[in-house]
Amino acid sequence: MKKLGLYVHIPFCERKCNYCDFYSVEKSDSIEKQYVDALIKEIKSYQSKAEGYIVDSIFIGGGTPSYLKHENIGLILDEIRNTFILTDDVEISLEANPNSITAGKVLSYKKYGINRMSVGIQSLDKNILKTIGRLHDSKEALDAIEIIKKAGIDNINADIMFNIPGQDTDSLNDTLEQVISSGVKHISFYSLKLEEGTPLYKMEAKKLIQMPDEDSERDMYYEGRELMEARGYIQYEISNFSKPNYECRHNIKYWTGGEYISFGPFAHSCFENKRYNNISDIKYYCENIKEPDKFRQLNEVLGKESKMFEYIMLRLRMNSGIIIEDFNREFEKDFMSIYKNQIKNLLEYQLIDINNGRLKLTKKGMDVSNYVFEQFLSD
Ligand SMILES: C[S@@+](CC[C@H](N)C(=O)[O-])C[C@H]1O[C@@H](n2cnc3c(N)ncnc32)[C@H](O)[C@@H]1O
Ligand code: SF4
Repeated sequence: MKKLGLYVHIPFCERKCNYCDFYSVEKSDSIEKQYVDALIKEIKSYQSKAEGYIVDSIFIGGGTPSYLKHENIGLILDEIRNTFILTDDVEISLEANPNSITAGKVLSYKKYGINRMSVGIQSLDKNILKTIGRLHDSKEALDAIEIIKKAGIDNINADIMFNIPGQDTDSLNDTLEQVISSGVKHISFYSLKLEEGTPLYKMEAKKLIQMPDEDSERDMYYEGRELMEARGYIQYEISNFSKPNYECRHNIKYWTGGEYISFGPFAHSCFENKRYNNISDIKYYCENIKEPDKFRQLNEVLGKESKMFEYIMLRLRMNSGIIIEDFNREFEKDFMSIYKNQIKNLLEYQLIDINNGRLKLTKKGMDVSNYVFEQFLSD
């Protein structure tokens, strides 16, 4: 049986944060019910296609899944179990915001089989939390982690952001130290990207705020990385660090070309050699749920060259890198000869290294990862 990942998008947020352009809308009880009914129909629609597959990772993300009534999370997972076969050790992650976590909810999640929680902490500095428009304070954030641990889920990720206007390495280190002391097993460490149309983007355009300069951004990344590594977290991807054996199985699927089906508006799938996505419109999605072709868009079918580039780029993001023999088998090509010039240059500048048939970015290479990826665009 082939391994499969599932993603469920919950497109509701209590209030939009100042930096975020993920698809989400406001919610009412009736929209929530209508949406969960539609999701269940979309999941069911895969019944015949599910044969031959076994699901080993499920990610319920958002938006804010913890903002949904917990019973609805239970209904969604029930339908997934009715439709798909799951491995005994299936990883089931749920994204949560600190201000919508309660002990009761987490106990229910556990009952439904959720065994990994991802909490959006972002920062524990009150000024930074204000700048980015979060609804929680630092106490609520740390309490959320305690609540989850007490309820018996120890596989916890904290999302932390750096490169925020007004943030410096002291503020970031202080956040990281506290988050690490809380005992989380995984940290996603994101550099703030100014997304067009977000409040932060507009404030920056009006010069009301100033983004940290490039050097400060890199300093925060280096110091954060050093601190996490010194405390036993292993960097397994450019932005992801975990204690040994706590890597996120679901995200690894995205980076290693695994198959996944995603449900809900905005959701992107890679299944049966096709990439497609559902358009980001919850109303249209619910109204047309019986005719998925109406809201599903087939993305460009990748040619061999683009597939090779994607393979290289995604694998280089990970510390495990590219196993040259695997590439050669997958594409029936000789990696070392098609990229001979690029490899020579990148080795000379110490941006990559090759050991035991495995090519990886060096720490220096991670800093200029986009430059390294671009080198493989042409042969
Ligand atoms: C899809 S969001 C959902 C998480 C959850 N709703 C929350 O806010 O805690 C996942 C993570 O992406 C990160 N993120 C969102 N927008 C970002 C941006 N513009 N730049 C960098 N990271 C961003 C944040 O760390 C966030 O926690
Ligand atoms: S970061 Fe999370 S809570 Fe904030 S707007 Fe994005 S999805 Fe919603």
